[in-house]
Amino acid sequence: MAKLKLADLPIEGKRVLMRVDFNVPLRSDGSIADDSRIRAALPSIRNILERHPSVLILMSHLGRPQGTPNQKESLAPCARRLSELLGTPVALAPDSVGPAVEALASHATSGSVLLLENLRFHPGEEDSEKEPDFVEKLARLGDVYVNDAFGTAHRAHASTALIASRFPGKAAMGLLIEKELSFLGPLLENPKRPFHAIIGGAKVSSKAGVLKNLLSRIDALYIGGGMAFPFFKAKGISIGSSLCDPADIPVAKVILEEAEKYSLPIYLPIDIAASNKGKYSLFSDSVPEGWIGMDIGPETVEAWEEKLAGAATVFWNGPVGVFEKPPFHSGTRDLATFLAMLRGKVIVGGGDSISAIQGLGLGDRFAHLSTGGGASLEFLEFGRLPGIDALSNYSGRGEEG
Ligand code: 3PG
Repeated sequence: MAKLKLADLPIEGKRVLMRVDFNVPLRSDGSIADDSRIRAALPSIRNILERHPSVLILMSHLGRPQGTPNQKESLAPCARRLSELLGTPVALAPDSVGPAVEALASHATSGSVLLLENLRFHPGEEDSEKEPDFVEKLARLGDVYVNDAFGTAHRAHASTALIASRFPGKAAMGLLIEKELSFLGPLLENPKRPFHAIIGGAKVSSKAGVLKNLLSRIDALYIGGGMAFPFFKAKGISIGSSLCDPADIPVAKVILEEAEKYSLPIYLPIDIAASNKGKYSLFSDSVPEGWIGMDIGPETVEAWEEKLAGAATVFWNGPVGVFEKPPFHSGTRDLATFLAMLRGKVIVGGGDSISAIQGLGLGDRFAHLSTGGGASLEFLEFGRLPGIDALSNYSGRGEEG
């Protein structure tokens, strides 16, 4: 069922309550290391402000404070950055709910922007049983609700899913979610073939679901980063002292067996850059005892590039090495540089791979960099997300509950 969109929502004179994902990485001095997620919310924010709401109230989480307020995870840096980007003041509320916040929301200057303090300072954001009236208190702040937090749409939290039912016929998706779905949806429905997927990062079990769902839809799978080691183990290849959760090995085995059913080629690294007490070495095919595999090697990059050159669509999630620790950044860097030039459409999901791409200044060379790491994977696994399911349906004639 199609969902209500921001364009369908009457906004003029209304208090618009919008969930955004300003869960940005912070440096140790508290400054924002990457403001991409704040920038990604700007189209919806500008669209709403142009349509003369009485006030735009933004809400987000930052980090995982687990229900307890702390200064380090305040949204103050995000309020400042948003204000700079918009060129207009953005007030930060002292909390996300309560009488003082309700007063701010009701008496705000027409067309102003108010950012609520970190939602996860309240236990009720993540667990309604711990604070049953939290969602009600949040809902009281707005006349209409918009969810534009794609990065958090896989969490069924108070501000992302539960709240929508408090706005029957008035809970719409923002422009960022619309854009994310326009790139990720076709990967499940009708990707342009050949469709290749590159999966890196550390844990096989956290990506097993998406891998299984993709196996029948893709034409080739490349596995790099720490993900590769359980696959090596499953094939009886030595991994030395590389990180590998034993529980991931049977999962890798199942994926290898499933892939065989579809005659799907799985490309594992053919050479590995490894470290041993500060020493560096490249090994072919396996890692000797005492060495820790840290990155895919140059032969792997070359072999993968040859295969990837023929892809019409590529989905990439997760770095293929420990890219924050040079020289083990090379595999991810070289792969990113190659993919940036690929003729096929490349869609990237996952904070670390995107940080690597942004760090190389290649961000605008990709068809789409998803703002959701976990969310894009869950969408590709289940084809749906709770934060989107909860929104009002759109009948074509008007809004429904
Ligand atoms: C993310 O960064 O993936 C989202 O903001 C969700 O954050 P969470 O994993 O802490 O729920």
